[in-house]
Amino acid sequence: ADSIDEECDYLFKAVLIGDSGVGKSNLLSRFSKDEFRLDSKPTIGVEFAYRNIKVGDKLIKAQIWDTAGQERFRAITSSYYRGALGAILVYDITRKLSFENVSKWLWELREYGNSDMVIVLAGNKSDLSHSREVTEEEGKIFAETEGLCFMETSALENVNVERVFLDMISKIH
Ligand code: GTP
Ligand code: MG
Repeated sequence: ADSIDEECDYLFKAVLIGDSGVGKSNLLSRFSKDEFRLDSKPTIGVEFAYRNIKVGDKLIKAQIWDTAGQERFRAITSSYYRGALGAILVYDITRKLSFENVSKWLWELREYGNSDMVIVLAGNKSDLSHSREVTEEEGKIFAETEGLCFMETSALENVNVERVFLDMISKIH
């Protein structure tokens, strides 16, 4: 183990889920490396990234898993969720269908995930307000009904990206 591991108070796993193209991989690369790509390719299988975060006086090493939204590229679902303490469920505010499918993703989370997993709903691509198909209010109401935290994000403009991850992480501890 390197010195970072030795100094780390907690290591935990969180997952990103949501339809293909909603911006999961770009949210993660923005959070972990401050990078964004307009021409990113769909994820195949599973990737993950780490980031160390200080919450209060504790150093937390977050291991964030990112998988394909496309069914045919997805890794075996049960192993993806195993041991995850948090999840960020992402939809695209410019694609109504990706919002409608949030129920499907929630079902899967509740089927395979830990029952006390912290779930945050993120309406991504808030920079594209001119082609918005889902209002912020709709997102908020859905999240309240399901007992989730909610915020709109933009991986492109780096809006609320830190907040969405840090919110989830701080609620775990
Ligand atoms: P899969 O891996 O197939 O599940 O997709 P994904 O959810 O990982 O989406 P990805 O991060 O690859 O982004 C898909 C497309 O949306 C890319 O062209 C990104 O550049 C774009 N994108 C991601 N986030 C944003 C955002 O906040 N704003 C805008 N305008 N485009 C974004
Ligand atoms: Mg991806």
